[in-house]
Amino acid sequence: MIPKGLFLTFEGVDGCGKSTQVARAVESLQRRGVACMATREPGGTRIAEKIRSLLLSPDNDAMVDRCEVLLYLAARAQHVEEKILPALADGVVVVCDRFQEATFAYQGWGRGMNLQAVQQCNSFATAGITPDHTFVFDINIDIAHTRLHNMDKSPDRLEGNSRSFFKRVRQGYQDLVRSNPQRMTLLDGGRPIDELSLNIISKLDFLLEQKRIAHA
Ligand code: TMP
Repeated sequence: MIPKGLFLTFEGVDGCGKSTQVARAVESLQRRGVACMATREPGGTRIAEKIRSLLLSPDNDAMVDRCEVLLYLAARAQHVEEKILPALADGVVVVCDRFQEATFAYQGWGRGMNLQAVQQCNSFATAGITPDHTFVFDINIDIAHTRLHNMDKSPDRLEGNSRSFFKRVRQGYQDLVRSNPQRMTLLDGGRPIDELSLNIISKLDFLLEQKRIAHA
């Protein structure tokens, strides 16, 4: 079955500014009368949000890499089946804060897990569904860390990783965009928020036209 909706994902290292852009993209779509839904990973459903708490709690610092990747994928399986696929079948534009590329960049590049194995497990979890388009916010790790620090919240288990970990994750995202230039767009997360929003909205217009989704 070809989904009628459009599946968009926003990605990047922690502190890259993607969540602000998810909110702005949804606002712009709603203003133009497009049926859309914002969601996030890990999370998006009751069960997947419970898995999110397990993953992000600094109390779980003993978690091993294979447990970590399988929990992200377990949350994804629930999210895809319970929320994403039904929305796409209804013709809704789904805007998701992180999806499969986060697993490839964080667990593949960041943790150094076998990428092919991670990708195979991911396909099992997603039942083969892939985002129609992915926006990746690229940013210098020092700037991202300063942003996170200024948020005045204590770091979660993932945010507590070293700078070298985040440098590998950033490299992973850059490599993924290079390998999928049609499906993914790399944006400079250091650019002004309004400029980034305009870039994203013009790409959204193109994608909506392509999928023939009516918009004002
Ligand atoms: P968030 O802070 O953007 O909500 O994401 C939660 C954290 O989980 C973030 O540090 C990125 C990480 N993550 C992974 O390591 N692998 C994944 O598959 C996903 C979806 C997120």
